[in-house]
Amino acid sequence: MSTTASIQIPGRAVEASSGTARQASFSTSPTATFTSPSSSFPGSLANRQKQRQEKTLQPFETQNIKILLLENVNQSGRDILTGQGYQVEFHKSSLAEAELIEKIRDVHVIGIRSKTKLSEKVLKEAKNLLVIGCFCIGTNQVDLEFAASSGIAVFNSPFANSRSVAELVICEIITLARQLGDRSNEMHKGTWNKVSNKCWEIRGKTLGIVGYGHIGSQLSVLAEAMGMNVIYYDVVNLMALGTAHQVPTLEALLNQADFVTLHVPELPETKNLISAPQFEQMKEGSYLINASRGTVVDIPALINASRAGKIAGAALDVYPGEPGGNGDYFTNDLNGWEEELRSLKNIILTPHIGGSTEEAQRAIGVEVADALVRYINQGSTLASVNMPECNLRSLTLDESKHVRVIYIHKNVPGVLRKVNEVLMNFNVDKQITDSRGEVAYLMADVSDVQISDIKEIHDGLDGLSSRILVRVLY
Ligand SMILES: NC(=O)c1ccc[n+]([C@@H]2O[C@H](COP(=O)([O-])OP(=O)(O)OC[C@H]3O[C@@H](n4cnc5c(N)ncnc54)[C@H](O)[C@@H]3O)[C@@H](O)[C@H]2O)c1
Repeated sequence: MSTTASIQIPGRAVEASSGTARQASFSTSPTATFTSPSSSFPGSLANRQKQRQEKTLQPFETQNIKILLLENVNQSGRDILTGQGYQVEFHKSSLAEAELIEKIRDVHVIGIRSKTKLSEKVLKEAKNLLVIGCFCIGTNQVDLEFAASSGIAVFNSPFANSRSVAELVICEIITLARQLGDRSNEMHKGTWNKVSNKCWEIRGKTLGIVGYGHIGSQLSVLAEAMGMNVIYYDVVNLMALGTAHQVPTLEALLNQADFVTLHVPELPETKNLISAPQFEQMKEGSYLINASRGTVVDIPALINASRAGKIAGAALDVYPGEPGGNGDYFTNDLNGWEEELRSLKNIILTPHIGGSTEEAQRAIGVEVADALVRYINQGSTLASVNMPECNLRSLTLDESKHVRVIYIHKNVPGVLRKVNEVLMNFNVDKQITDSRGEVAYLMADVSDVQISDIKEIHDGLDGLSSRILVRVLY
């Protein structure tokens, strides 16, 4: 496929040929001061830029950057993007495929959540698309490989809801210890059942955390503050927070913990991590909490352990099979054991809401929108899920004649020699390159560049056979 991209530079227009369907892009002078509502967040991109007198690289005419936001992306993210001067089209829901294809043809950025499927078929139509923001945790709704091979970076927000999950688990520890779920259900049915037998304080009890990552470590701090002793097991040796300590095996943790809580990723090694032998290793009358992934617990084994009185209760937020939407779906048609599970005593069942809070949605909005702005304006791929992670320190305001060259290319031999031939008459201040599978990403800051040089650099790189996408920011 061959297209001709029209590239505008202040005061004139330049034609640049593109060998594939992707359109090249230029940036404009950084003299304008851009503020963003994200500056109200202490660590926000806008605040950091202000403090360091960073030169804000901008794609030419920010209002020319078109963004399509679907699925009611949080206001915090919308504010950051509109604050940059981009043209933002906002939709509350996802779009049917035909309409999505129609709209995606025209935009440089698309922001989605989990319902919009960005398949190869859809992405093939996205001639101008530079970057995808998944304003959520997962990215399996996007064809990441095809996106990378088309020079489209993808960002998400994997950890913005860690605190929300940790707080839910704290709530569940107390709820289980006091049998609150059962008491509340009884009251809803009109039964007054005041009991203290086998109801406990959590102070002085031992919490065993399996997986001491973002969520597990947050939880560790909260649990200690409530007077619990914390132990954890992780496949990696990790520094303990507070007075928590790491135990060498899962079995050691299960032998000691009054409450076992799971915070591991979904991996082949974590499938049925807690099954019949592990329930055997747990203390008599202990509790199990799973807000990680549904495959981590063998549910039939949990049902047996609960019926046998081995465990005194459990809280589940995640399930091997989960419905695609809200409704009356938690029946045996889903996994085959729902009715047995629902009939157990002291069991809390929640519909994967661990990370579902207003705060988490707001944090996701900020994190993804900041990543999009950094990518559009500076070319940084830090935290991208499908591109090699590359970053160069920001240009400063006194570096007015510097340009930043972004060259996304096929990871094949001899590319750097060709790139350096294009840049050999210029002063390359700094350069970084990295690859991920078949795609490589190169960033170079070039000093003392005239407007006419920009076209030379652009066209030189654009003509290379390894090219996927060229951007020149200044
Ligand atoms: N319920 C929800 O709504 C919700 C929300 C966010 C995250 N999650 C899930 O919670 C889990 C933890 O998330 P996180 O952000 O803390 O992840 P993380 O990557 O920060 O931490 C995971 C930890 O588990 C450890 N680990 C990996 N394999 C292990 C094993 N076999 N045994 C012991 N430890 C192991 C890793 O070394 C790491 O320290 C993930 O499965 C995530 O998908 C659920």
